[in-house]
Amino acid sequence: MTVLVTGAFGLVGSATVKRLAADGRRVVATDLDVPANRKAAAALPAGVEARYADLTDAAAVANLVSAVEPEAIVHLAAVIPPFIYMNKPLARRVNVDGTANLLRAAEKQATPPRFVLASSIAVYGSRNPHTVEGVLTPDTPTNPADIYGANKVKAEKLVREANLDWTILRLGGVLTVDLGAYTKLDNAYFEGLLPTDGRLQTVDVRDVAWAFGAATTAPVIGETLLIGGDDTHRHVQGDVASAMAAAMGLVGGVPAGLKGDPKSDGDWFNTDWMDSSRAQEVLGHQHYSWPDMLTETAEKIGWKRYLLRATAPLAHQLLKRRAPYYGTGKIYADPWGAIAEKWADPRPEAEDL
Ligand SMILES: NC(=O)c1ccc[n+]([C@@H]2O[C@H](COP(=O)([O-])OP(=O)(O)OC[C@H]3O[C@@H](n4cnc5c(N)ncnc54)[C@H](O)[C@@H]3O)[C@@H](O)[C@H]2O)c1
Repeated sequence: MTVLVTGAFGLVGSATVKRLAADGRRVVATDLDVPANRKAAAALPAGVEARYADLTDAAAVANLVSAVEPEAIVHLAAVIPPFIYMNKPLARRVNVDGTANLLRAAEKQATPPRFVLASSIAVYGSRNPHTVEGVLTPDTPTNPADIYGANKVKAEKLVREANLDWTILRLGGVLTVDLGAYTKLDNAYFEGLLPTDGRLQTVDVRDVAWAFGAATTAPVIGETLLIGGDDTHRHVQGDVASAMAAAMGLVGGVPAGLKGDPKSDGDWFNTDWMDSSRAQEVLGHQHYSWPDMLTETAEKIGWKRYLLRATAPLAHQLLKRRAPYYGTGKIYADPWGAIAEKWADPRPEAEDL
């Protein structure tokens, strides 16, 4: 079975390509034609073919799909936070129009492929843990708070209306034990502006990859599934980065941010705990618990943990001064305001809804 994976050199894409190849599938990995991706292509698992296309180019997408003739498409390519906030027009073109281009090309195939879309729990919008009831389910009403969630709602609608078999996977907070991912300062800044007591369900990227692989063949056509890790992945936001940092040796290295305002439902980030039981039942994706991830992270960094441990107080001081609310006098986190200040207004515009 041939599977076409878009966004194949991204965080989720790389893991998904590996998973599918390990399962013996014929995989075509597609992404933008940029030097970093050309370099990454050299390290693809044996037998995986790389093809380059910009999903905003309808003709290039049509050529790609007709040349590959996939039996399934795993559509991961997207512009995501925090960089999405800097360029809303590009986000619309990639996240919404790019999805439409891919769907139109897929529908034209003699046998249209199964289409598996990567969506996000960002579709649910701001989640105040003091006032929401229960955990997220596929039936929780969508209510996007930012351009990202709004793009995903639109992409989902396009998929549901398309003339082919589809499955939508809404992902929680995807984490990896690959250490390079944690060295990006913009990501640390972004995490630092989120309410520390906001609820977040994480999931190991390898389990996300498993879910996408399984969704290309499992009896899940027409279903929207929530992809989170097991119950050990239910955290409050402020515990995640500090636990990961501690696993690397940076004990106490990450300064505490601010809690969210219990009285303001709109001032929370779009994450929450989720009911992944249906996904686990049909896809069986949960293999890496949170303690497993921390242990593996510590093992990967090895003896360097001791060096990092010595630098933790310095890291704490540096990160504290770079933190989003440093010197602002704010009592509660203001995630959307802080995003607007650092990048741009994150809210969807009328045309996004
Ligand atoms: N990472 C998370 O925590 C998370 C959470 C929820 C949902 N998701 C969704 O999962 C999917 C994968 O996310 P990720 O974390 O791997 O993101 P990523 O940014 O690492 O990868 C996205 C890939 O899409 C590619 N891309 C962007 N524009 C393109 C274009 N015009 N044409 C072709 N390719 C293009 C990029 O080059 C990149 O390789 C996305 O759809 C994202 O919205 C991710």
